[in-house]
Amino acid sequence: MRHALVRGVSPAMNRCELTHCTREPIDIERAETQHRAYLTALEESGCRVHVLPAVPELPDCVFIEDTAVAVGATAVMTRPGAASRRPEVDAVADALRDCLEIVWIVPPATLDGGDVLCVGRTLFVGASGRTNSAGVAQLRSLVAPRGYNVVSVPVTGCLHLKSAVTAVADHVLLVQERWVDGDAFSGCERIEVDPREPGAANGLWIGDKILFPAAYPYTAERLRRRGLRVRVVDVSEFAKAEGAVTCCSLIWDDSSAAGR
Ligand code: GLY
Repeated sequence: MRHALVRGVSPAMNRCELTHCTREPIDIERAETQHRAYLTALEESGCRVHVLPAVPELPDCVFIEDTAVAVGATAVMTRPGAASRRPEVDAVADALRDCLEIVWIVPPATLDGGDVLCVGRTLFVGASGRTNSAGVAQLRSLVAPRGYNVVSVPVTGCLHLKSAVTAVADHVLLVQERWVDGDAFSGCERIEVDPREPGAANGLWIGDKILFPAAYPYTAERLRRRGLRVRVVDVSEFAKAEGAVTCCSLIWDDSSAAGR
């Protein structure tokens, strides 16, 4: 069974962290409607969806991906680079504890889950404004005994590594080469985003399809032409908060957690 942990939309999302985007008003009701449709898409993609309530004091709490990295039977609880986001982590650890072994990133390290891209047994980790070298080093020592290796990848011009590159099939990556050097991902096929859609590199590969933002039809067409199945979801309100489709869920499989 595949699981997805999600967290509700904070009524304070208009006070979210912003790094590369200009602040625009977020329609919270519309964000909640989009979130419900996203949850339906996860369910229809075969996930059992678990919902943590939103916290009014935590504007970015819907972006749950940043709080943990599921690696096999283990959840690595992060220490987000934005101090305002660190209080998001404890409740996520409590929600995962029954399913996954919990280990922690500790100071002075910072690590955002949005900076971690798993391809096979390799975790590519963005050296971004949110993840520091101590975060990369701690992650490496936590996952090495579990059979995973870590490769640090420079990222510029965007928030997270997964703003610039995501997996859309086994060893197939969707890449924005302006923000990350595609040659860092040796052994992977690369599909470039359509040049008219610079922010289109974030897709959520799940089961036999990719959940993909409705805002990027040209890149969606590139994925379809490559033979991949795309399910479009409208995440326009989350994009205003510098989020996209991977950030709103934390996904793990029972099969990888079995035997812990
Ligand atoms: N607003 C999402 C973030 O900056 O972490």
